[in-house]
Amino acid sequence: MSKVLLVGCGHMGSALLSAWIDLKSYTFTVVDPFNYDELKKKYNKKKVKFLNKTPNQIQINRFDIIIFAVKPQIAKKVVSEYHNFKFKKNSVIGSIIAGKKISFFKNNINNSSQIVRIMPNMPALINEGVSCLVSNKNFTRKNKKRIDDLFVLVGKTIWFQNETQIDKATAISGSGPGYVFTIIDAFEKASQQIGFSKKISREMVLSTILGSAKLMEKIKKNPNDLANLIAVRGGTTEAGIKVLKKSNPSKIMYNTFLAAFKKASKLGKN
Ligand SMILES: NC(=O)c1ccc[n+]([C@@H]2O[C@H](COP(=O)([O-])OP(=O)(O)OC[C@H]3O[C@@H](n4cnc5c(N)ncnc54)[C@H](OP(=O)(O)O)[C@@H]3O)[C@@H](O)[C@H]2O)c1
Repeated sequence: MSKVLLVGCGHMGSALLSAWIDLKSYTFTVVDPFNYDELKKKYNKKKVKFLNKTPNQIQINRFDIIIFAVKPQIAKKVVSEYHNFKFKKNSVIGSIIAGKKISFFKNNINNSSQIVRIMPNMPALINEGVSCLVSNKNFTRKNKKRIDDLFVLVGKTIWFQNETQIDKATAISGSGPGYVFTIIDAFEKASQQIGFSKKISREMVLSTILGSAKLMEKIKKNPNDLANLIAVRGGTTEAGIKVLKKSNPSKIMYNTFLAAFKKASKLGKN
């Protein structure tokens, strides 16, 4: 049985907890002092314990995995509360906090030895997410499996060797749902501008995006080849794509990723 302590149970913490809660070989304890009553009510009758303050030394000794899921802006304050604790042997310090490096946990928690950074994304809410992970060198195979078993429940898992890849992944898959929603919003607004209702626009746009992504996944072709398949010479798609390409979408996406990557790197420095 692996005992997990989740520190922070907001949007992402609760998405993870909801996917994990029925696991037979794990138990869950949550510390989120400001939302203690609300969370207790929400998870009423589920096998999860709630603490209304940071656990003490005796309590911390029971946990095999401690996962920090608070905002980067308060990470230092929260993580420092665990500074002098002695943890159970081979226990894992995990973090989904954007930007905060493995060295941040090493510096702020004296006895941390096995550390893993995880970057999940919002579709974890429906178990369709992707989590990118990187651990420090001495992370055991057993712990890798324990962590992977948890995150695979909210979607795909991708392990990296190099920590900078996590900040890059934060800019792509971590923040990615935000870009996709922005693009969907642009599709919908333009569809309304051309004369469709909000309702019809939503139906057309969402089905088109979902269908295209699923098709691409199924037939395993490059997006450019698929676009060329539809864009027959002299046809409507070709006319549309010509206009779209004038604004150089790959450059726009690259600049978008770069801005998010820079921000992730900056958050790591604070
Ligand atoms: N949301 C995403 O899509 C996403 C994706 C990937 C990674 N992440 C990362 O996940 C982390 C959490 O993001 P989120 O969107 O879930 O934020 P969030 O909704 O604000 O959740 C953080 C939770 O931590 C609580 N908290 C505050 N102080 C605490 C303390 N001392 N001890 C324990 N809990 C405390 C907050 O309570 P109050 O709200 O009352 O302060 C809140 O419930 C961030 O670092 C973010 O970078 C998020």
